[in-house]
Amino acid sequence: MSKMHLPERVWITEVGPRDGLQNEAKMIATDVKVELCERLLAAGVTNLEATSFVSPKWVPQMGDAAEVMARIPRPAHARISVLTPNMKGFEGALAAGADEVVIFGAASEAFSQKNINCSVTESIERFRVVAQAAKDHGLRVRGAVSVALGCPYQGEVPIADALDVARRLRDLGCDEVGIADTIGVGTAGQVRALFEAVARELPLDTISGHFHDTYGQAVANVLACLEVGVTRFDTSIAGLGGCPYAKGATGNVATEDVVYLLHGLGVETGLDLDRLVDAGQWISTFLERKSNSRVGNAIAAKRVPA
Ligand code: HMG
Ligand code: MG
Repeated sequence: MSKMHLPERVWITEVGPRDGLQNEAKMIATDVKVELCERLLAAGVTNLEATSFVSPKWVPQMGDAAEVMARIPRPAHARISVLTPNMKGFEGALAAGADEVVIFGAASEAFSQKNINCSVTESIERFRVVAQAAKDHGLRVRGAVSVALGCPYQGEVPIADALDVARRLRDLGCDEVGIADTIGVGTAGQVRALFEAVARELPLDTISGHFHDTYGQAVANVLACLEVGVTRFDTSIAGLGGCPYAKGATGNVATEDVVYLLHGLGVETGLDLDRLVDAGQWISTFLERKSNSRVGNAIAAKRVPA
């Protein structure tokens, strides 16, 4: 059998504390958020999306962003990122000492309105000042293209629309552009076509994949991306999460599942799978539900003495 051509190393951004917890209806104590971040950093996470500096009226769960940032450990090798939809968010992020800010646009007008209350073009203008301020302060900037593989309001999203927003985020100076399947509907062929199109215009090492797992396609979609040469992925511990403005959408692909896939393929991640499983089982127990990570549950089950 011929060997697939795969990257040797993949960089995972752990988004569980942000994309995961933002969707929890019950308010979670700051202590728990901080402990989750501690456990993830201890498992070797070097890119951690810790929280969001968004309006607490829109996403109350992220209302303790400044406190979370003040209390999480800051190992020198770890880059901490936060969501910043506007200058108010950026100022909070800067004061909190974030290493990276995330501006998040959408490939459909309807989703842009629901998520950030403005049109796609207005959002780009808002992000322009955020990206510039980030550059002025030496912060890394990541852009996200939501609903790139389907929109809960519009339905199908043409590749050209996702590509257009990716291009505009690159033009704002984003160091990385994440292509997001917000509602987890994409399948591997569609993912391949979209990422190939994006990779024709943006350097491969500046593109990342962000796959929600609503339809169970996310691990396959990560593999499709790997085959295109993508080396950056967002994943969420225990598959936590969803977007509050995408009803019914479940969490991101579980970190444990992606790491298991990658290590099985001989691709390096720098992450300690056993400690990730511990973190995923711990937060799932706290939330009183079974983890959404198949790998996490399988490894945890093997540990229980017969
Ligand atoms: P707006 O209501 O149009 O904003 O919301 P506004 O400027 O009129 O402000 C309204 C109030 O919010 C004001 O307070 C502001 O001060 C306050 P008031 O004067 O009424 O007391 N405010 C803020 N407070 C704290 N931090 C801020 C901030 N900005 C305004 N940054 C806005 C516009 C963008 C602020 C709002 O729509 C918002 O916060 N949206 C965030 C939505 C969100 O967090 N969605 C989930 C994250 S995105 C996601 O999950 C997708 C992703 O994972 C990729 C994928 O899967 O697709 C990234
Ligand atoms: Mg998301």
